[in-house]
Amino acid sequence: MIFKPFMREGFMPLPVTFISTISTDGIRNIAPYSCIMPVLRPLDLICLASARKRDTLVNIRKTREFVVNMIGTSLADKVIPTAKYSPPETDEFELTGLEEKPSCKIQAPGIVGAYAWMECELFKEYEETNYILVMGKVLRLEVADDALSVDGGLNIQKARPLMMTGSQKGMHFCSVADIGHFEPFGAMFPDGNDPIIKHNKS
Ligand SMILES: Cc1cc2nc3c(=O)[nH]c(=O)nc-3n(C[C@H](O)[C@H](O)[C@H](O)COP(=O)(O)O)c2cc1C
Repeated sequence: MIFKPFMREGFMPLPVTFISTISTDGIRNIAPYSCIMPVLRPLDLICLASARKRDTLVNIRKTREFVVNMIGTSLADKVIPTAKYSPPETDEFELTGLEEKPSCKIQAPGIVGAYAWMECELFKEYEETNYILVMGKVLRLEVADDALSVDGGLNIQKARPLMMTGSQKGMHFCSVADIGHFEPFGAMFPDGNDPIIKHNKS
C-alpha cells in the first residue's frame, strides 16, 4: 500500500515526552512533544520540532530553558489534558494535577512520575515559516533508580516508555518490548573498539 508522504510518522513509532517550561511570569506549562530526537552520540544535544503557536516555544525563547520529561504508560491519561489548548496564563501543573519535581540546574521544573528528566538550555534554533527546530543542550540527566537495569541501562519493563504511532484516524499509544538482543557499540567498528566509549562515563 502506498501512503501520502506526510503519513511518514505513522510508521515510525515516536516517543511521547512532556516538555515542561515556565514563563517569565512564573506560569508553569506542560505540553506533549513527540517530534524529538538526540543529536548524534556522544553529543549532549537534543532537538525538537515545534509549531509556532506553542506556549512551550514562547517560554523556551524567553527563558532559554526547558525540561524533557520521559514518561511511561502510567501517564498516558495526561497526554490529552496537557495537549488541549489552554491560555498562557493557565498553570498546567494545577490544571492536570501533575506534581512538580524541582530542577537542579534550571528554574523550569520537571514532572513527578516521569522516569527520566533532561534539564536543558536553549542551544540554537532553526526557523522555517511553519516550524522551528529547537536544539537544547542537556545540562543534567536524571533517571529514576527504579527505571534502571543492573547494567545501568533503561529497564524497559519497569519504565514502560510511552510511544505513539499515528494513523489516518488518530494516535495509537503503545510501549516498547525488550527483544533480548544486545550488541556492544564496538561491534560497528572493524577493531571492535568503540572510539567514543570514554564519553559514556558519568
Ligand atoms: C502525542 C502528542 C505529541 C505532540 N508532539 C508535538 C510536537 O512534537 N511538536 C509540536 O509543536 N506539537 C506537538 N503536539 C501538540 C502540542 O502538545 C499541543 O499543541 C499543546 O497544546 C501545546 O501546548 P503549549 O501551547 O502549552 O505549548 C503533540 C501533541 C500530542 C498529543
